[in-house]
Amino acid sequence: MDEDTPDGEPPAAGGPRTDGGTERADEPTEDVALDPWGSASVGDYADLFEEFGIEAFDDVADDVPDPHYLMRRGVIFGHREYDAVAEAMANDEPFAALSGFMPTGDPHIGHKLVFDEIIWHQQQGGDAFGLIADLEAHSARGMSWDEIDEHARNYLLSLLALGFDADEGEIYRQSDNRAVQDLGFELGSKANFSEFEAIYGFDGETNVSHMQSVVTQTADILYPQLVDEPKPTVIPVGPDQDPHVRLTRDLATRVRYFKVTEAFASFELDDDERQLVRAAYDALAADAAGADGDATDVRCEDAAEWLADYEPPESDRESVDLAAAKASALDKLEAGGKEPLRPRVRFFDRNATDEAFEALIEAVEGEKRVFEGHVDAFDLTRGEAESVAREVEIDNGGFGFRQPSSIYHRFMTGLTGGKMSSSIPASHISLLDDPEDGYDKVKAATTGGRDTAEEQRELGGEADECPVYELYAYLLAGDDDELTKTVYSECVNGERLCGGCKEQAAELMREFLEDHQEKREEAEELLEDLDIDLDSDRRGTGGEH
Ligand code: TRP
Ligand code: SF4
Repeated sequence: MDEDTPDGEPPAAGGPRTDGGTERADEPTEDVALDPWGSASVGDYADLFEEFGIEAFDDVADDVPDPHYLMRRGVIFGHREYDAVAEAMANDEPFAALSGFMPTGDPHIGHKLVFDEIIWHQQQGGDAFGLIADLEAHSARGMSWDEIDEHARNYLLSLLALGFDADEGEIYRQSDNRAVQDLGFELGSKANFSEFEAIYGFDGETNVSHMQSVVTQTADILYPQLVDEPKPTVIPVGPDQDPHVRLTRDLATRVRYFKVTEAFASFELDDDERQLVRAAYDALAADAAGADGDATDVRCEDAAEWLADYEPPESDRESVDLAAAKASALDKLEAGGKEPLRPRVRFFDRNATDEAFEALIEAVEGEKRVFEGHVDAFDLTRGEAESVAREVEIDNGGFGFRQPSSIYHRFMTGLTGGKMSSSIPASHISLLDDPEDGYDKVKAATTGGRDTAEEQRELGGEADECPVYELYAYLLAGDDDELTKTVYSECVNGERLCGGCKEQAAELMREFLEDHQEKREEAEELLEDLDIDLDSDRRGTGGEH
């Protein structure tokens, strides 16, 4: 153990959740960067919420019908719009899960997390997809096609061995999937180089195929909605992949035919202005209805008058510059003069073909008004309008995508402390490691233990700082929460010494590897039956080094 001062009080033990041991007090936190091709380490996961708008998984955990152990243990710590997936799962509605793997080396226990996440979503009733990111491996990591074939095979055997049902789900390699290529081409027409510069730090030296692989990944992420229908889709990945998720969420929206917003009159409102105009409308409409029952009497100038004296409640003021919103809303209302204020949903033509725009007009029920680039509908809710827009789009040659969701897991600490890295064999355990080597690596791992057994009994170990504890929580304990809780509380209470603890973990690791490798052999046959070319015989260079 390399820390010299015990930090006094051991962390509270026995809670249902621990932090999995990846948060290290001694790591600098200032430099948050999410780089898909950089080194995968994150100083402080909490920063990702603030900086990038990733949301805490805790916020949705309660909505997940039967959460996976990685969710229960806080290993999955963040998400984007996973509520949509959880809701579909709870209501037996369609949803999908997809993730991809760059075949740059052997699959290891870190990849197992992602395999398990895909498989779990499949078992919960989702459409499941696993892909081999061969274009990315070739263009961004310089892997030759032969290397890619070999590694791809190993990834897929492990995915199948862990329980992926290939009859129900789909496995593909990027280069072989024509639909993905076409979709990437389409999505690429809505992205430009400046954006890639800003998101990925690409510059004039970045090779063009690398950029193409990014576009391909955005297509991967939307592919489940292309092969079937638009549906909530979760992308389980490490947080380093979040830039891809963000970009894809944007592109999914940019290719939509129509944008649906809410409006009150002919002019446009931003979200903050709308909130204020709504307050004005609600107050005045209630009055008008009280007087003569006709709410359409509310006019822009009345609302302006009302708004001028309005002080929004504290709770609405968060981070928003309400003074500016109020000033601009007032300008718009005053300019509106005697125009009546009436709530409506507005369909903007964003990318629609002429036929699709005509079809939309037809499809809107109730009172509507058609303008040059938009249609206002007075009898539809926002939700109804969204459905109409999506249906018309799909019927007329568009995609109708929903924004994809994501979940993010913590990176495992390396067995030797520091990062888990494929270039340091002792730091990680490959799913192909000889079970005895796996055993040995665990026995040799760094721990959160004290210098002497005596100290350990007195102060307890630091499970939160211990790669061995992580092994239990992330993998070895499987679904058995009792085991992780026992290890944790015995450790921090000083009842558990590292020697025995590692012996137990090492044996579990050996068993896991034995079992997994047996299942990999059985999976050979399944893989043969799949329609996937792992002997691509493709010509090419060694890639970019
Ligand atoms: N970029 C991912 C990686 O580095 C691989 C990948 C390609 C991927 N397409 C994807 C991951 C789609 C998730 C979803 O590992
Ligand atoms: Fe880690 Fe186990 Fe030692 Fe605790 S007892 S520090 S969990 S190896």
